Amino acid sequence: MKKNTKLYETAAALLASGKGILAADESDGTAGKRLAMVHLPNEPENRQDFREILFTADGIEEYLSGVIMYDSSIRNTTDDGVPFADVLTAKGIVPGIKVDLGTRDLEGFKGEVVTQGLDNLEERFKEYYNLGARFAKWRMVVTIDEDETPTDESLKINAVMMTRYAQIAQAAGIVPIVEPEVIHAGDHSLEKAEIVTTRTIQVLFQTLMEYKVDLQGLILKSSMVLAGDKYSEQTSPEAVANATLRTFHMSVPHECAGIVFLSGGQTPERSTENLNAIAKMGEQPWTITFSFSRAIEEPMLKAWAGKKENEDKAKEVLLETCKQNSLASLGKL
Ligand code: 13P
Repeated sequence: MKKNTKLYETAAALLASGKGILAADESDGTAGKRLAMVHLPNEPENRQDFREILFTADGIEEYLSGVIMYDSSIRNTTDDGVPFADVLTAKGIVPGIKVDLGTRDLEGFKGEVVTQGLDNLEERFKEYYNLGARFAKWRMVVTIDEDETPTDESLKINAVMMTRYAQIAQAAGIVPIVEPEVIHAGDHSLEKAEIVTTRTIQVLFQTLMEYKVDLQGLILKSSMVLAGDKYSEQTSPEAVANATLRTFHMSVPHECAGIVFLSGGQTPERSTENLNAIAKMGEQPWTITFSFSRAIEEPMLKAWAGKKENEDKAKEVLLETCKQNSLASLGKL
């Protein structure tokens, strides 16, 4: 296989020691849910203010290697007219872009979904590259429900579509993040979460390898392995660390550039604590760090509360949250 050193350089920059990725890639609809937390209407100006606070905070580059944006935010600018992607690039933070277009029902498979977004992806990548993006994200959703859910069929079709996205991304000079999210909501046990997550990631990497995707230029974004949020017993950080690392050792080839975590609706504190426990288990074949959205954004949103006079405070809170996650990625909390 032809070596694509540019991709490897981007992946290495994203996985720099002590840094992680901010997933600020909410669709306009989901951004509205974040704004609703601070009683702000979902209007373009409020979304812009929210992103401007996140991206312009002094010092975030010490802890953040990359930021994932959404179509409307990569086209957006600061109040002074500087494109957000340029703000990040000037700080040495790699701009990224979410390119999947969300999920649709998978006909014939009750409760299961398939991710959309392959149409015109080559053209979209060309444009995003010109706008500054050097990595991308595609998310598939896996829900643990009845005994048969997720089905092999839903895992396979999602893995194939994700693989096609990864091929197109790499051909465009963009590092693909592949994100199979096993949903935390539910009443499943830790054991069940481990079985499903292992199987999901195995199917994904088998497919990526069948289609010759260059794993050295690809990053896995995974859920942590933990019992469902409605299960009787919540998982301790040590149990999360053991189950999550066992899962990766059973499913992730060592060539994969690295692994980053989503927070998946855990509280910010719990996400950070679990990351720290995982890092404390010692060196692994892959760099492992964070790519949180809610676990980074919620504390700064609360500090901001949508008020101009709170913007500096919100930036301070953001910096502190990023620092805590940086320390956690090194097991130093
Ligand atoms: P959370 O960290 O809020 O789970 O979001 C991460 C993400 O990128 C979801 O796709």
